[in-house]
Amino acid sequence: MSPPQPPASFVSQGDPAHERAVVEAARQLLFERAMATIAGHPAGALAAIPQMRGAEKTAVHDLNYTELFIRDNVPVMVYLLVEGKFEIVRHFLDICLGLQSREPLTLGIFPTSFFEEDGRLVADYGQRAIGRVTSVDATLWWPILAHAYLRRSGDHAWAASETVQSGIERLLALVLKPGFRDAPTLLVPDGAFMIDRPLDVWGTPLEIQVLLYGALRSAAHLLDARHQELARRAEEWARRLRGYLLKFFWVNTKVIEVLRRRPTEQYGERVVNEYNIQTETIPHWLQHWLGLRGGYLIGNIRTGRPDFRFFTLGNCLGAIFDILSPVQQLALFDLVVHNQGELVAEMPLRICHPPLEGEKWRSVTGFDPKNRPWCYHNGGHWPCLLWYLAMAVLRGRARGLSATQLGPAEQLLDRTYHMHLARLPRQRWAEYFDGPTGLWTGQQARYYQTWTIVGFLLTHHLLYGDPRDAHILDLPT
Ligand code: GLC
Repeated sequence: MSPPQPPASFVSQGDPAHERAVVEAARQLLFERAMATIAGHPAGALAAIPQMRGAEKTAVHDLNYTELFIRDNVPVMVYLLVEGKFEIVRHFLDICLGLQSREPLTLGIFPTSFFEEDGRLVADYGQRAIGRVTSVDATLWWPILAHAYLRRSGDHAWAASETVQSGIERLLALVLKPGFRDAPTLLVPDGAFMIDRPLDVWGTPLEIQVLLYGALRSAAHLLDARHQELARRAEEWARRLRGYLLKFFWVNTKVIEVLRRRPTEQYGERVVNEYNIQTETIPHWLQHWLGLRGGYLIGNIRTGRPDFRFFTLGNCLGAIFDILSPVQQLALFDLVVHNQGELVAEMPLRICHPPLEGEKWRSVTGFDPKNRPWCYHNGGHWPCLLWYLAMAVLRGRARGLSATQLGPAEQLLDRTYHMHLARLPRQRWAEYFDGPTGLWTGQQARYYQTWTIVGFLLTHHLLYGDPRDAHILDLPT
C-alpha cells in the first residue's frame, strides 16, 4: 500500500524566494562545510562547523564538536538516504563497524564519536568524554540505520557480508544475555544518550529502551539464514520489551486514575503495584499536562521512583517504531498540541519537561551550570528534534488515523516549520535555545550545528518535498 499523499495544508506559506534561499544555504552548509572525508571519501558530518576566529581567521576546533558523532549523524544519514547518496551512508556504516570495540570489557559497543588524525581513526567510547559518560544510543542506532540503508538501497550483499553479520552478533551479545533481573529493559548509567550529562536519567531511561526495541527488530531482520535462532531471540526480547513499555511507561488520565488508587507494599508474583510506587510520587502538573485526551511514555520506571518527565525524542521514536498503537500515537500528538505553549513556545522543540529546579537540580546534576533550569538538556529547546515529530505525525495517515484526527498536529508542524525558517538562519543554526520559551540562543550553544541544519532540511523535505519518506525509519514488518 502506498502511503497517502500530503495534506493540502502543506503548501509552504510565506516568501518562496526566501525559503528557497534558506534551503539552498542549509544544503551548502551541510555538503560543503560540515561533511568530512575519511580515506578519501565523504563519510559523515562534523557535529558543528568550525568557526573562523581572530585576525588570522583560523578555524576553532571547539572541544569535540569537530568530531563525527554517530547520534548527530542520524539525521544526516537519513537525509543522504532520501537523496539517494547510498555510498556515503555505507562508508559511514562501515567506518563505525570497523570501530566497534573488540576490547573484552566493552566488546561490541560502537563509539560515541570519532575523527581522523594523521591518517588514523581516533574513537571516543567514553574514555575521552567529559565526565567519562558512556553513550549507549550510538550502539543502538547502528543497526537501525543499517536496516534503513538496506531497505532503501537494496544492498543485500552488504548486509549478508561476514563483517556485518559478525558485527550484529557482537552487538546482540551485549543485550541477549542473562542478567540479575527478569525485565527486558537495558540498564544504563546517567547520561548514556543524547542527554550526555547527569540529569537523573540512569536506570532504564525511555530513549534507550525505545532505541533498544528498534535495534533488536532491525538486527533480527539483518541477520542471515545461518543466524535464525539468534534473530528469533532478538524478536522475542523486543516483543517482551514492547509489552513492558506499554505496561509501565504509558500513561494517560485513565491510567493515572488507576495508579493513584493502587495498594502498596504488595508481595508475590501477581500484584498490581510491581514497583511499589506511592501515590505521592505522581505529580499534580500531570493533570493539566495530560488533559482529557493526552497520553505519553514517561521518562523512566524504577522501584518507588518513576520519572514522569516528558522526553520528546523517546516519545517521537515510540511512535515512529510503532511501539505505540495508532490510538496511542494520536493521544501523543494531542498531548504535544495541548502543551505547545511549553514544548514549542518560541522555538520547537523542548527536549524534556519540566526542568529540574532548586535542590533537585543541585543534587541530581551536581550543580551543573550547563544544565541549569530551562537550559541545555534541562528543559532547553532543540531544533534538531522537530523532524522526528514531523516523521511521527506524517506516518499517521498510513496508520489509519484520519485527516480530522491528525489536523491539529499537522497544523502545528506547518507553524513550527515556519518558526524554524524565520529564526534558525538569523540565530546562526544554533545547537539549542535557553529559557522557558526558547527565545534566546543557548548560553554555550555552538553555532552552525549540523543536526540543526540537517534537521531543518529534513522537516522541509518531509512536509513539502516527499512525505512518503516519513516511512524511511519504519521497522521491519
Ligand atoms: C552535546 C550533546 C550531545 C551531542 C554532542 C555533539 O554533547 O549533549 O547530544 O551529540 O553535543 O553535538
